[in-house]
Amino acid sequence: MRAINENAGTEQRFVRFFFALWPDDRVQKQLSDAVERSRLEPLCGGRKTKTENIHLTLVFVGEVNPGKLEALCQIADRVKGSGARAFDLVVERMGYWKHNKIVYAAIAKIPQELTDLASALQDALSTAGFSLEQRAYKPHITLMRNASCRTLPELAEPIAWRVREWMLVKSEQTSSGSNYVPVGRWSLDS
Ligand code: 2AM
Repeated sequence: MRAINENAGTEQRFVRFFFALWPDDRVQKQLSDAVERSRLEPLCGGRKTKTENIHLTLVFVGEVNPGKLEALCQIADRVKGSGARAFDLVVERMGYWKHNKIVYAAIAKIPQELTDLASALQDALSTAGFSLEQRAYKPHITLMRNASCRTLPELAEPIAWRVREWMLVKSEQTSSGSNYVPVGRWSLDS
């Protein structure tokens, strides 16, 4: 386990956690620039994800007692120990979901390693007694919320992302939107 901030969340009654892939600054900027260049905000309304918040969720754990942080880290340790492997992602287009008004970056071909990592975390969380949403896993990178889009522009070029680690993230709701704090980091085997 690579705990980043051992004290994260201890002062609150419930804390929202999720496991995620976090792109490096360069990939986050490429995705953010793609939104700007496509003029999505004037086209669709809504609000853009802050560049530093751009990520891909593996499993949304939800609101739990902050004392569960240790258990979450142990679960991630076990998944890492079972040999979760590195992989590459390519974003080739943007998509829009009308039901939740999200514009997202879509992964061209979902690698088996990504599905396996999300499933391994889900299974380990369920076995440990965490109750998770039963929705089918749809990997996506949220770029805009509250958007109303009729058409979406093409991406100028594909955006490649070499995934070498995953994170446990604490989500704080603030008046200016979500604030994400990494609380654990685990590397993937190359
Ligand atoms: P979203 O971007 O599609 O909303 C932190 O909120 C992360 O967890 C986001 O990536 C969010 O996905 C994801 N998530 C999944 N289920 C969620 C839920 N029920 N509530 C909030 N976030 C959820």
